[in-house]
Amino acid sequence: MKEQLRVGILGLGVVGSGSVKVLAEQQAKIKEQTGVEVSIVKALIRPGEDKEAFAKEFQLTLTTELSEIVEDPSLDAVIELIGKIHPAKEFITAALENGKHVVTANKDLMAQHGVELVEIAKANNVSLFYEASVAGGIPILRTLTANYLADEITNIRGIVNGTTNYMLTKMLEDGTSYEEALAQAQELGFAESDPTNDVDGIDAAYKMVILTQFAYGMDVALIDLEIQGIRGLSDQDVAQAQAFGYEIKLIGESVKTAGTVNVSVGPVLVPQTHALASIKNEYNGVFINSTGIGQSMFYGPGAGSLPTATSVISDLVAIAKNERLGISAPQFNEYRRPQALTPDEQVIASYYLAVTGIGQEDLQTILQNETVTAKEVVDTNGRIVVLTAPINRLQLAAVEEAVANKGTLERRMRVMEA
Ligand code: HSE
Repeated sequence: MKEQLRVGILGLGVVGSGSVKVLAEQQAKIKEQTGVEVSIVKALIRPGEDKEAFAKEFQLTLTTELSEIVEDPSLDAVIELIGKIHPAKEFITAALENGKHVVTANKDLMAQHGVELVEIAKANNVSLFYEASVAGGIPILRTLTANYLADEITNIRGIVNGTTNYMLTKMLEDGTSYEEALAQAQELGFAESDPTNDVDGIDAAYKMVILTQFAYGMDVALIDLEIQGIRGLSDQDVAQAQAFGYEIKLIGESVKTAGTVNVSVGPVLVPQTHALASIKNEYNGVFINSTGIGQSMFYGPGAGSLPTATSVISDLVAIAKNERLGISAPQFNEYRRPQALTPDEQVIASYYLAVTGIGQEDLQTILQNETVTAKEVVDTNGRIVVLTAPINRLQLAAVEEAVANKGTLERRMRVMEA
């Protein structure tokens, strides 16, 4: 029976150093509960990186050679916290092929190459776990695989990027500028090393791809998603949305309709009465509708060193338990269904449209031509904002085209139903 799990870690950045600390603090409790002494003993750092003091404090051997970790026969598992696709993909592949279990927080990689990597893990009879890749400290993936097997999810939507939620909160509550709010999110360790993926909705899109796999068993690619970020969101739109009774949040949605899915990410008008509207700063919330449980929401810090590190270590604990019980390398998510995307005419939503360069009458004509009903119309010095009744994507595309021919569609956002 296995009594020790020796681990190598790739990367000692924000989450890597946090993982070492979290394990050091919880090692005794983990041993008590699992019967396994889990320890991180070796770390891969970049040449020239100064981690000597940290390594001494936590009794780590440092190396700049990948092979010294993935080919070390005394190690059972490897944590990958380098991020991005290359060389993380090659590093994980090497670890799996050397018979090491792998834990990663890498959403970019798991969303784009997860299926392939899981196959490599299976072929080598080891586990590949990635709880920390979605919603930081919220234990959402394991919850979906365990607690929702007896249920059927119909939609899963949420705030899954801590950086942008932090920025939107600061911009709204403190009047902080976009640039300053982003700088703060970077300083606090929430943002990606290149924050483009945060602000343009790509990071949230990766997480929605993974959530869609776990919720419906379907693999969708980024190209299948409609993705918008928060770049260029104006004070005017934030204020107008509030006047209508909504907060603007960057929301990822994965909706199942008649066996098909539609996945999107974008700024959404969330009713002020909805639980997601109250989520602030770097916190995330994943709101699920399902036929059994009904409505449920999982809430917690979506970014940051210790919350994300805690999810990383929870994966190590799962591996330790499996090893102790002699369970042969289970994978995280075995649920697989053929991909089926919802046709545009069946993707129904209400929209917030901000239009300039067109008079009210002309805009009304455009809407009428596409049988789109305006529930609200506000004209502020020629900038017209419309809240539509529910329409399908074909109607939306036709309105957008007609507006673009006569004026400018400055902003289009989905409106979440109450
Ligand atoms: N940059 C990510 C975020 C980190 O802000 O949510 C956690 O995945």
